[in-house]
Amino acid sequence: MKNIVVLVSGGGTNLQALLDAEHRGEIPNGKITCVISSKADAYALTRAQENGVKTRVLVRKDYPDIAAYSAAMVKALREEQADLIIYAGFMTILDEQVVNAFPYQMMNVHPALIPSFCGKGYYGLRVHEEVLKRGVKVTGATVHFVTAECDGGPIILQKAVEVREGDTPEILQRRVMEEAEWKLLPKAAQLFCDGKISVVNERTILHE
Ligand code: GAR
Repeated sequence: MKNIVVLVSGGGTNLQALLDAEHRGEIPNGKITCVISSKADAYALTRAQENGVKTRVLVRKDYPDIAAYSAAMVKALREEQADLIIYAGFMTILDEQVVNAFPYQMMNVHPALIPSFCGKGYYGLRVHEEVLKRGVKVTGATVHFVTAECDGGPIILQKAVEVREGDTPEILQRRVMEEAEWKLLPKAAQLFCDGKISVVNERTILHE
């Protein structure tokens, strides 16, 4: 059984999707053992507690710099004996110490089709604002491994979502979550915990 640690900063709907999938038996070889939040008041913490999952809070401003914060995160993840670390709306930057400590063991869900609308400055609602500004007709979500390059790690799963006339950033965000993120993230966790993802030459191979 692999220990899954989920990193959050906000509402935690992706965490909820993971918890629901686990309860439905869809991640048979993984268990969410801890949720770590970068914000003390994140609603994701309530979701974890309601599901009997251990929570921890690591606030960036309690540390002098990103290196110290990242070192504290590595320590916490080691204490939790994390096998898989999932960024589910985790909005705080960590440095390469963390990536190096857990190579190809960390995954992130991004609310666009990478390599579009990704990288520094593209997070949360801002991604959908930029999608609408540019007028693309198709967007989506991506689950990828976390590497030192922001949103640049090997892609695990992607799903396209239609942009519709009259969409607001909020409406589009909700559609991308419902149709893509909440499905892709549990599926990626299941594949990882079943040992069905390998990385060759910076690309993933899925053994489904
Ligand atoms: C999600 O849409 C997730 O893809 C996005 O933040 C939202 C968190 O929602 N993440 C990023 O933009 C990371 N670059 P949630 O807290 O309800 O899961």
